[in-house]
Amino acid sequence: MAKKVERLHVNFKTLEEFKKFREFGHQELSMMEDLQDNLIENDSESPFYGIYFGEKLVARMSLYRVNGKYDRYFNPPQDYLELWKLEVLPDYQDQGYGTSLVQFAKQYGVPIKTNARIKSQEFWEKMGFQPATYDMERDKGENPLIWFPEGVTEQKANS
Ligand code: COA
Repeated sequence: MAKKVERLHVNFKTLEEFKKFREFGHQELSMMEDLQDNLIENDSESPFYGIYFGEKLVARMSLYRVNGKYDRYFNPPQDYLELWKLEVLPDYQDQGYGTSLVQFAKQYGVPIKTNARIKSQEFWEKMGFQPATYDMERDKGENPLIWFPEGVTEQKANS
C-alpha cells in the first residue's frame, strides 16, 4: 500500500529527526541556523518530503524544480525535478518507503533527475530510471540517473 508522503516543515522537531539520516550535512545545518536566527519562520515549508511511522520520520527526500533554462538532460529542454537525499532509515528499508517517495515525485508528470549512491543502482533501475547519457562533463563521483514520462520526453542526444 502506498504510504502517506508529507511536505516537511522547518522546525526544531524536523531538524532533530534529520540527524538520524546519514546524509545530514550543510543544507540541514544552514536550515538550523536560519531558524535559530529567525531568518526563516518556524514551520515554513522546506524542499523536503517525508514519511512518518507514528511520530517518527523514517524516510525522506528533497525535491527541487529546476527551470528548463538550465536543463542539460532532456529533449526538448524543460522544467524537471531534481530528487536528492532519498534515504530510508535502516530498520525501515525494503518495506516500500523509497518506492512511495519516488512515486510521489513521479506524480508531477515532469522528468526527474537524481544521483544514485553506490549500491542503490538496482533500486533506481526498478523505479525505471536510466543513466543520463548526455551529461558527459559530470563531476567525478556523480552518477546521474533520469526518468521521464513515457512519450513526452527523450534524453538529449550526445553531440
Ligand atoms: N539494492 C538492491 N535492491 C534494492 C535496494 C538496494 N540497495 N534497495 C531497495 N531495493 C529493491 C527492493 O528489494 C525492492 O524490490 P522488489 O520490488 O523486487 O521487492 C525495490 O527495490 C523497492 O524497494 P523499497 O522497499 O521501496 O526500497 P527502500 O524503502 O528500502 O528504499 C533506498 C531504497 C535505497 C532509498 C533505501 O534502502 C536507503 O535509503 N538505503 C540506504 C542507502 C543505500 O543506498 N544503501 C544501499 C545498501 S548499503
